[in-house]
Amino acid sequence: MGFNTTEPWLFLVVLVILSNYRAGFSAAADILSGGQSLPVDKSILSQGSNFELGFFKLGTSLKIYLGICYRNFDVQDIIWVANRENPLSDPSSLRLEFSEDGNLVLLEGSSKRPFWSTNLTYPLSNSTEAILRDDGNFVLRDSSNRSNIFWESFDHPTDTWLPGAKIGIDKVTGKPRRLISWKSSEDPAPGMFSFGLDPNGSSQYILQWNRSQVYWSTGGWTGKSFSLAPDKWMDYFIFSFVSSENESYLSYTVKNNSSRLIFVLKYSGQIQQLSWLAGPWVWTLSSSRPESLSDVYALCGAFGVYNGNISGSCECPKGFEPFPMEDTSENDWSGGCGRKSPLQCENSTYANGKKDWFLKLSNVRLPVDAKANLAVGVRSCELACMENCSCTAYSYDSNGCLVWEGPLLNLQRLPGGGVVGQDFYLRLAADERPRTTGNLRKVRVILAVLVPATGLILCLSIYFSSKEKLKRKGEEEASSHDLVLFDFNAEAPDAINGGTNTEGNVKKRGKKDVELPLFSYKSVSAATNNFATANKLGEGGFGPVYKGKLHKGQEIAVKMLSKRSGQGLEEFRNETLLIAKLQHRNLVRLLGCCIEGDEKILIYEYLPNRSLDFYLFDPTQKKMLDWGTRMRIVEGIAQGLLYLHLYSRLRIIHRDLKPSNILLDSEMNPKISDFGMARLVGDDERQANTNRIVGTYGYMSPEYAMEGLYSIKSDVFSFGVLLLEIVSGKKNARFYKDESLTLLIYAWELWRDDRSLDLTDPTIICPSSSSTLLRFINIGLLCVQESPGDRPTMLDVVSMISNEHVPLPAPMQTPFTTGRNSMDTDSANNEAENCSMNHVTVSVVEAR
Ligand SMILES: *[C@@H]1O[C@H](CO)[C@@H](O)[C@H](O)[C@H]1NC(C)=O
Ligand SMILES: *[C@@H]1O[C@H](CO)[C@@H](O)[C@H](O)[C@H]1NC(C)=O
Ligand SMILES: *[C@@H]1O[C@H](CO)[C@@H](O)[C@H](O)[C@H]1NC(C)=O
Ligand SMILES: *[C@@H]1O[C@H](CO)[C@@H](O)[C@H](O)[C@H]1NC(C)=O
Ligand SMILES: *[C@@H]1O[C@H](CO)[C@@H](O)[C@H](O)[C@H]1NC(C)=O
Ligand SMILES: *[C@@H]1O[C@H](CO)[C@@H](O)[C@H](O)[C@H]1NC(C)=O
Ligand SMILES: *[C@@H]1O[C@H](CO)[C@@H](O)[C@H](O)[C@H]1NC(C)=O
Ligand SMILES: *[C@@H]1O[C@H](CO)[C@@H](O)[C@H](O)[C@H]1NC(C)=O
Ligand SMILES: *[C@@H]1O[C@H](CO)[C@@H](O)[C@H](O)[C@H]1NC(C)=O
Ligand SMILES: *[C@@H]1O[C@H](CO)[C@@H](O)[C@H](O)[C@H]1NC(C)=O
Ligand SMILES: *[C@@H]1O[C@H](CO)[C@@H](O)[C@H](O)[C@H]1NC(C)=O
Ligand SMILES: *[C@@H]1O[C@H](CO)[C@@H](O)[C@H](O)[C@H]1NC(C)=O
Repeated sequence: MGFNTTEPWLFLVVLVILSNYRAGFSAAADILSGGQSLPVDKSILSQGSNFELGFFKLGTSLKIYLGICYRNFDVQDIIWVANRENPLSDPSSLRLEFSEDGNLVLLEGSSKRPFWSTNLTYPLSNSTEAILRDDGNFVLRDSSNRSNIFWESFDHPTDTWLPGAKIGIDKVTGKPRRLISWKSSEDPAPGMFSFGLDPNGSSQYILQWNRSQVYWSTGGWTGKSFSLAPDKWMDYFIFSFVSSENESYLSYTVKNNSSRLIFVLKYSGQIQQLSWLAGPWVWTLSSSRPESLSDVYALCGAFGVYNGNISGSCECPKGFEPFPMEDTSENDWSGGCGRKSPLQCENSTYANGKKDWFLKLSNVRLPVDAKANLAVGVRSCELACMENCSCTAYSYDSNGCLVWEGPLLNLQRLPGGGVVGQDFYLRLAADERPRTTGNLRKVRVILAVLVPATGLILCLSIYFSSKEKLKRKGEEEASSHDLVLFDFNAEAPDAINGGTNTEGNVKKRGKKDVELPLFSYKSVSAATNNFATANKLGEGGFGPVYKGKLHKGQEIAVKMLSKRSGQGLEEFRNETLLIAKLQHRNLVRLLGCCIEGDEKILIYEYLPNRSLDFYLFDPTQKKMLDWGTRMRIVEGIAQGLLYLHLYSRLRIIHRDLKPSNILLDSEMNPKISDFGMARLVGDDERQANTNRIVGTYGYMSPEYAMEGLYSIKSDVFSFGVLLLEIVSGKKNARFYKDESLTLLIYAWELWRDDRSLDLTDPTIICPSSSSTLLRFINIGLLCVQESPGDRPTMLDVVSMISNEHVPLPAPMQTPFTTGRNSMDTDSANNEAENCSMNHVTVSVVEAR
């Protein structure tokens, strides 16, 4: 369940344009004239074929909507929906037609009550017609006087703001003209978020929750721009703000006529500015406000908890479930969460002697609308809340006692990693109390009542022995956890703490840094079935990798580091902590580690979809990688690498980037693995010149392979190779058209001869994407240029990939074309090898 707005492709909804299935639809018209009606299998096409108006369904839902979408794009996006609140259901009898008074009405069956109507009351001419214009505006006008316009869809926007449409207030009727988000990606019904002009009369445009609570503002209009809006808005658009006696509105035009740029108010509450990249292929997110989902007001609804970790999603706390249950898609959180059982204090019949209790949530950002209570001490704060049935939660810290009433909004679980949250206690019904504690108490009561004096000795002995056991167990656990019983989704009690906790400040809650759970070797062994061969996932350059399974069913990947690494324990621990702090959705997550004796073991998240090489170089599997997926993978790798290179405290050079180190999650999103490995195995990587070269032929930059020199530009080189491999579906190291030809040389020669498209994998059948393909090949060739200084940085690469407007320089000749002979002798099709070149030991892993 979640929102994920940093990935632009998620903007694309699963959508079926019903008219695509039409049989023999005659020449598309842009006008629906009086007397005509539009059935489910027909559509209206704007003059320049930019937009199409027709009926559509979303996802697996049976609901049918009338809407406008972009037409000449590969993926069609809905920019306007007529009947967003009243979906149709019967495709055989629905139609859009003119009523007798000239209004447009949407009808189904024989019912006269429209599902949607232009709903104009003043006398229309009874000869009206409707036209879909090429700017996306659907207009109802007088057919005898076409400049007489009665109604236009631009005045009734849904969640998309197109150039030319007006967002503002109609001062005559007092009605706002604003964007209202969809409820979820598959439900166009009006959601909780809106974007419009400040009703108080200022010139600010604001984002509101539930049409009331403001959570972001553009700042006032300065005559040319808005004080708080993103600079990009001003770079790309010319806004005009008009305020007259009858209306106030804002509209915009795009500075560069050849670009398609729009604004969308997403169901996640962010106003996003999207650009259509040449291809035509995908909408790219240019800017969004608020930038972080955590700043969207009540994103997860009442009692919903926003999980502030990287994936960013909503969840219900224990004792609650998503509300309403029926008929909601998974990212619809407008209803928030509802209690599974009613509170005892609300119903004394039901209470039956039981009492509500409080569930502790740690490290959270507190909800809004707290009330201060005068209670002193955490117990009396709890009591104050317990005694008042309208109190739903409390929190106590050095500032005193806070209580909440009614639904909780904006509760957020913090991701850890340096952000200090607070403890928070949520009122729950007795039925939601975990059973075990209840049973324990019962047992104790029975013992005390039924077993008299003779039992006392027994009781005491049980008590002491269990206490001792607990004590011993506690000591063991303080140093390492049992991996099998561990729940990575819950909080880690004892862990290596990487924070600078040594400062003697008396803080009630010490600043928590990323914590990395430490496990015992025994439990790691148990989780992997004694490192059984059947569990072995592979053998990396640094040691074997096993798959493990925990008690709760969670799967993990266990990487054993070879023992010969020269790193000391302390250093290893420090490095592991640093690596654990690197959290990015395109990096494999380090979950924990085990250091015992010589053994150094890393526990990673397990990714079921194997690695990129499994798909890319296999004739049947590669069909899974359509061009869209490949673009996403390239983009993800670039983002992950950029993060490694730019992460301020710890610039990491991967040094072994290759398809087998790119793992894929269940949605085929790439995650870079083995990053930081060079640091962990502890060869003297801190100098820019290393004696032992870690890497894989085919992906190593020439300066690294030959002289052992490396920098972030060596990773850029590997990225370039990877990019060309992804486009071509061929392995660099194994690419032998004739003996001396590598993929890089082949790509370069095709480029020189202006035949670059010949490089593309024949599996990619998407001729319309040729300009993106060319761009990618160009970028790949730029990355593999011989001189590190000529190669772009990952920052450049990311901007070149995500912005078609960035002009690309022509690549210079690639390496291995000039010094080819000397390299070829070494990089020939050998298995793993060790060889010496100029005092440099090269340990090479054959590309898997
Ligand atoms: C049409 O207008 C009437 C009165 O102005 C209003 O009650 C009704 O809800 C409107 N219907 C639609 C579908 O907008
Ligand atoms: C339109 O209105 C005119 C006069 O007001 C009337 O004569 C004509 O029959 C109407 N046409 C339709 C199709 O209702
Ligand atoms: C057509 O409509 C426009 C706008 O309502 C009006 O200004 C114009 O006079 C009309 N022309 C005729 C011929 O009625
Ligand atoms: C508009 O005025 C109301 C009442 O004064 C205030 O609560 C609200 O915050 C104002 N809205 C904005 C956007 O300033
Ligand atoms: C939204 O606002 C309406 C009226 O202002 C109110 O009745 C409703 O309870 C609010 N919704 C939520 C979820 O707070
Ligand atoms: C505002 O509306 C009134 C009445 O419809 C009209 O007379 C006036 O010209 C309008 N003003 C502007 C600036 O359009
Ligand atoms: C407008 O965009 C096109 C590509 O979409 C680009 O080639 C052109 O340089 C841009 N013009 C300006 C003035 O930015
Ligand atoms: C953009 O297009 C409009 C109409 O098509 C034209 O009037 C305007 O001059 C164009 N602007 C630029 C910068 O090309
Ligand atoms: C109180 O609980 C009882 C038993 O569960 C239930 O039958 C009754 O409807 C509840 N009353 C209220 C007001 O919720
Ligand atoms: C319970 O809380 C409500 C709202 O703050 C308050 O009005 C009421 O007086 C409280 N009741 C008691 C018994 O404290
Ligand atoms: C985010 O938290 C949820 C629940 O706590 C967990 O299932 C998920 O794996 C976490 N995701 C990341 C990327 O940390
Ligand atoms: C490990 O980190 C601690 C605290 O951050 C530091 O004091 C210590 O010197 C580090 N040890 C090594 C070997 O880097």
